[in-house]
Amino acid sequence: MTLLATFFLLASLLSFQPSRSSSSLRMGSSLSVENPQHILISPNAIFSAGFLAIGHNAYSFAIWFTEPHFHSPNTVTWMANRDQPVNGKRSKLSLTHDGNILLIDASLNTAWSSNTDSLDPVELHLKDDGNLVLRKLQGTVLWQSFDFPTDTLVPGQPLTRYTQLVSSRSHTNHSSGFYKLFFGDDNILRLVYDGPDVSSNYWPSPWRVSWDVGRTLFNSSRIAVLNSFGVFHSSDNFTSKTSDYGTVLQRRLKLDSDGNFRVYSRNSVSEKWYVSWQAITNGCLIHGVCGANSTCGYDGKSGKKCKCLPGYRLNNQSDWSHGCKPMFDLTCNRNESTFLEMRGVEFYGYDNYYIQFSNFSACEDLCLQNCSCQGFQYSYNDKKGITFKCYTKTQLLNGRRSPRFPGATYLRVSKSYSFSGEESANDTAHDHRVCSVQLQRDYIKTSGNRIVSVFMWFATALGAFEMVCVSVIWCFLIRTSQKSDADQQAYHLTATGFRKFSYSELKKATKGFSEEIGRGGGGVVYKGILSDQRHAAIKRLYNAKQGEGEFLAEVGIIGKLNHMNLIEMWGYCAEGKHRLLVYEYMENGSLAENLSTNKLDWSKKYNIAIGTARVLAYLHEECLEWILHCDIKPQNILLDSNYEPKLADFGLSKLLNRNNPNNPSISMIRGTRGYMAPEWVLNLPITSKVDVYSYGIVVLEMVTGRSTASVQEINGEETYDGRLVAWVREKRSNTNSYWVEQIIEPSIGPDYDRSKMEMLTTVALNCVNEDRDSRPSMSQVVEMLQGHGSDPYS
Ligand SMILES: *[C@@H]1O[C@H](CO)[C@@H](O)[C@H](O)[C@H]1NC(C)=O
Ligand SMILES: *[C@@H]1O[C@H](CO)[C@@H](O)[C@H](O)[C@H]1NC(C)=O
Ligand SMILES: *[C@@H]1O[C@H](CO)[C@@H](O)[C@H](O)[C@H]1NC(C)=O
Ligand SMILES: *[C@@H]1O[C@H](CO)[C@@H](O)[C@H](O)[C@H]1NC(C)=O
Ligand SMILES: *[C@@H]1O[C@H](CO)[C@@H](O)[C@H](O)[C@H]1NC(C)=O
Ligand SMILES: *[C@@H]1O[C@H](CO)[C@@H](O)[C@H](O)[C@H]1NC(C)=O
Ligand SMILES: *[C@@H]1O[C@H](CO)[C@@H](O)[C@H](O)[C@H]1NC(C)=O
Ligand SMILES: *[C@@H]1O[C@H](CO)[C@@H](O)[C@H](O)[C@H]1NC(C)=O
Ligand SMILES: *[C@@H]1O[C@H](CO)[C@@H](O)[C@H](O)[C@H]1NC(C)=O
Repeated sequence: MTLLATFFLLASLLSFQPSRSSSSLRMGSSLSVENPQHILISPNAIFSAGFLAIGHNAYSFAIWFTEPHFHSPNTVTWMANRDQPVNGKRSKLSLTHDGNILLIDASLNTAWSSNTDSLDPVELHLKDDGNLVLRKLQGTVLWQSFDFPTDTLVPGQPLTRYTQLVSSRSHTNHSSGFYKLFFGDDNILRLVYDGPDVSSNYWPSPWRVSWDVGRTLFNSSRIAVLNSFGVFHSSDNFTSKTSDYGTVLQRRLKLDSDGNFRVYSRNSVSEKWYVSWQAITNGCLIHGVCGANSTCGYDGKSGKKCKCLPGYRLNNQSDWSHGCKPMFDLTCNRNESTFLEMRGVEFYGYDNYYIQFSNFSACEDLCLQNCSCQGFQYSYNDKKGITFKCYTKTQLLNGRRSPRFPGATYLRVSKSYSFSGEESANDTAHDHRVCSVQLQRDYIKTSGNRIVSVFMWFATALGAFEMVCVSVIWCFLIRTSQKSDADQQAYHLTATGFRKFSYSELKKATKGFSEEIGRGGGGVVYKGILSDQRHAAIKRLYNAKQGEGEFLAEVGIIGKLNHMNLIEMWGYCAEGKHRLLVYEYMENGSLAENLSTNKLDWSKKYNIAIGTARVLAYLHEECLEWILHCDIKPQNILLDSNYEPKLADFGLSKLLNRNNPNNPSISMIRGTRGYMAPEWVLNLPITSKVDVYSYGIVVLEMVTGRSTASVQEINGEETYDGRLVAWVREKRSNTNSYWVEQIIEPSIGPDYDRSKMEMLTTVALNCVNEDRDSRPSMSQVVEMLQGHGSDPYS
């Protein structure tokens, strides 16, 4: 009995042994879908190839990372038959005697084939790098999976002119989706949304020319590859570095079903995969994410949230890409049409007409004249009444809810349709409430080393009391003048701005670095005049040790930021040991200087408060969700020739703990005394609410004309809760209805809008709440102030 049992055991072991450990399949043999042991494993055991269940009774032949989950479809690096899955019974992959690889379904249909033949003996071999090759025994490769990528590249696998990545349809549906990463005819690596009805490029940004985003048209080799250190380089000179450069065990680059491409990394065998780089930070900029007739906004859970336009409903409850359709009958009769205002909502593309100088009624009229006009977008520019842009839309695609968009879309609807009880079409507070939660959650994720491993800090090192974020910080103080056409650039990224300067060019511009206008921990700022006569603030960094790649990666991040209330970077220089940054020059200096000389009237102050709030809302909630400024103070708010505020010291980002994303040292991070939120002192988690706090202090200073720093010096206090806050609170809680008069800066004179000053103070006091959860988010601040404002956008 025992002997017999042993014999059977031995026999079964023997029969499984060869296929279990093999990395090769010989001619005439096959792998069966029914036998879970029928898997090829690369000699280093990192990759496996075999049948993978991708749905109910649906299997694909695939290659995946063996660990951490043996059969996880999420770590698939290649699929033979993504669009034609095979049956879970009797399907098999065979290497025929004539050298063809055939994937045969239960019904004996060929689901996939390598279309190869060979008279010589061949074998199918899974290599250590994850490449499945069909090779002759002496080594010639007849076919390899690297030449037919699906949605993933592994390190060393090139993307070429002949190949492209195509995303999956969704997280769970692996068939070919709508997004493609490929080299265009112009040699530029691009992302395109290639949907059922329309197709459009969205990366690099369609309104930026290639050289502005550091791409070159002139290298026709068309090859892009991720290396094992985490650098992704393309022949058009696009280069990016993951946040965990160098240190990681395994990586893969995947074009995800949401249209973004990301590098995933894994540190050790036991760990999970995390995102170490992604191409696009604001998911709503990806075309097609929400389908037609809908808008994309920011959401806490998924990063973005689709919403149908008012009066529209989803075509397919389970799939946003099908968009929304109207619930009312569209009418061509202009008497029956009306328009619904959706503030802060814009649509990309499909403009029927574009008129640069248009008044509202002319724009409305233009839309009414054409039956195919579904609405129009009307945007204002940053100077009152000068340019109004009118775009009439024949299709409402790529809609985006964005509080910083200085305009609105007016949706054509039928008068007879009742919109009562419907959710407001305006960019509602609801979205932003979620946003601020998002920031905090992502932050925690970062410290827990998950999805967002890139965490950036911006800070400054100017002024006496400053301590700064993380280790290497650059700072600058810039006084800037605005180019006369600068307001034309208010919204879209400038088409001409960003470039690489040579050192000699900048030396000449600054007359040999002769006129110093600011100095800080990171470098010295000089005034300069560029060859095109633009006045610039040129900052020379002290720390030139930083590598070229890292410096450029960071400059690249800054290049993506754009907001009218953000100081604009025009370019950089990285040559030898020189590292310089070129910014616009600000004529009216900093808010701090202006406050000390009492130069600002109440309406300028109100405008500065709104502008600063807007840019903070943008940084916290809209563009890269993890940007905290951490050093909001009057010295870092610069004023242009129109006293429009520009937040400075975004000069350079620092990727937090680049080599160790798992362990950000929060305790090292500090703002400036007097503006610092209690969290810093109490060692609580740091969220966007630290900026909200500092913002509140700045606003209180503007209203009262008192400086928190001086108040604190007088009292010898160094705690976060300065006397200023206590004093304003006390005045306000008095039943005396003249409290505004008592706190307001006397030099402001009798001629001010009391209700606005009251609003400013109330908002500021909310912002400086000790309990961070009770502070509003920056977009809520924007809304409170705008609701009350005289500012040109409201
Ligand atoms: C996956 O997507 C394709 C293409 O849209 C569709 O035909 C197929 O039915 C989907 N499969 C599943 C399981 O939903
Ligand atoms: C073109 O790009 C390839 C790959 O990045 C590179 O090896 C080659 O040197 C480039 N050629 C030129 C002329 O820059
Ligand atoms: C590509 O970038 C490198 C360094 O980043 C630079 O030296 C080179 O001139 C660039 N090539 C082109 C063609 O722009
Ligand atoms: C909705 O989309 C899903 C996934 O693409 C598809 O399986 C389903 O058939 C669609 N439903 C309708 C009603 O079109
Ligand atoms: C979007 O709305 C328009 C009418 O406003 C309609 O003609 C079109 O079919 C809708 N698109 C989709 C995908 O339903
Ligand atoms: C629209 O209303 C105007 C004036 O009320 C009227 O003259 C015109 O005939 C109407 N047009 C249509 C198509 O009903
Ligand atoms: C709007 O512009 C149109 C044509 O440009 C003009 O006829 C009309 O008077 C303007 N309306 C107002 C209110 O300015
Ligand atoms: C309405 O717009 C469509 C689409 O752009 C255009 O083809 C058509 O000529 C326009 N009709 C009128 C009357 O302007
Ligand atoms: C959006 O806001 C504007 C101004 O507050 C208002 O007139 C309009 O009715 C709002 N739209 C919707 C759909 O609530």
